[in-house]
Amino acid sequence: MSRQARALINLDAIRNNYRLARSQSPDSQAVAIVKANAYGHGAVPVAQALEAEAGAFGVACIEEALELRQGGIKAPILLLEGVFQPEELQQCIELNFWTALHSEFQIDDIAALPEGAGLTVWLKMDSGMHRLGILPENYEAAYQRLSALPQVKEVVLMSHFACADDLDDQCTVTQLATFQQATANIDAPVSLANSPATLGWPGAHQDILRPGLMLYGASPYGVEHPQAAKLQPAMTLLSEVIAVREIPAGESVGYAASWTAEKVSRIGTVAMGYGDGFPRHARSGTPVMIDGQRSCIVGRVSMDMITVDLTDLPEAVVGSTVEFFGESLSVNEVASCADTIPYTMMTCLTPRIPRIYSGR
Ligand SMILES: Cc1ncc(COP(=O)(O)O)c(C=O)c1O
Repeated sequence: MSRQARALINLDAIRNNYRLARSQSPDSQAVAIVKANAYGHGAVPVAQALEAEAGAFGVACIEEALELRQGGIKAPILLLEGVFQPEELQQCIELNFWTALHSEFQIDDIAALPEGAGLTVWLKMDSGMHRLGILPENYEAAYQRLSALPQVKEVVLMSHFACADDLDDQCTVTQLATFQQATANIDAPVSLANSPATLGWPGAHQDILRPGLMLYGASPYGVEHPQAAKLQPAMTLLSEVIAVREIPAGESVGYAASWTAEKVSRIGTVAMGYGDGFPRHARSGTPVMIDGQRSCIVGRVSMDMITVDLTDLPEAVVGSTVEFFGESLSVNEVASCADTIPYTMMTCLTPRIPRIYSGR
């Protein structure tokens, strides 16, 4: 590896975070969410690290599920967005993929399968997010029809929260009440809780958790939270200083000359940029760690390079290690400096960043 931009992935941390999720509700099962390449961490290595403990994995679509199977993962895999074409249902049967079902017309596609197909279906309710799912007033009828089909082995009831990351927002309470009312006459396993609900809404735990972000060690909240504080960062994004220069006061740095030195300044140029997935809109002042010491980005993030302030770090030289987020710098803090969320910081890293694994 010549260019030193890289992401260290700590598989032990992911396993510990999974255990933290399970410990929130010891009687619940959990589907570990590894969609979008395990939020940028590498779907197959993450699933391999979790397979001994996780009962099942969750992905967005069948292509992601096939990647896991090709990687040797044997556990059931839930397609959170369901199938996009009815033909995919046959693969679900053959490869033990569970499919979400979000619209009534999809029941007809299942009814057209051979009897005894043995399909597991997660019946999704739109309990208030208004993105995907069957309306509460139609849900029981959909369940009755689906569960009576000879093609269906099991139906799991599911819904998704819009605002669970805000523990003061009553939207989650309302969604929960809507779900409970609409399913009062149904006896089937229930899955509602993403990471913020797993850590902060015990009433939403039910039978099967669906933790995603928390597995990777980022907090799902915008504020401090005692359980989220126990998460271990799984990804550390690193690179190194490739050039150093001194500039006089009044000189500007980078595209659009958006940052101007107020005093004589030492500027380090680091091999990292938006071509690696680091957000271009990270502001001047976004923290970085340089050889373990805190400093910040100055000037615009460009495609392949980022400039940082070394003025108060006289020991920093070409070759100094720069951490953009991870073990010593919270991805949540950095995300907020780029007006984004930790989900995108990790998921948007491009294939140009090699992932280097530690842990089992
Ligand atoms: C349906 C569903 N369940 C669970 C998750 C996991 O959410 P989180 O990453 O917040 O834990 C997601 C992610 O977006 C999702 O779409």
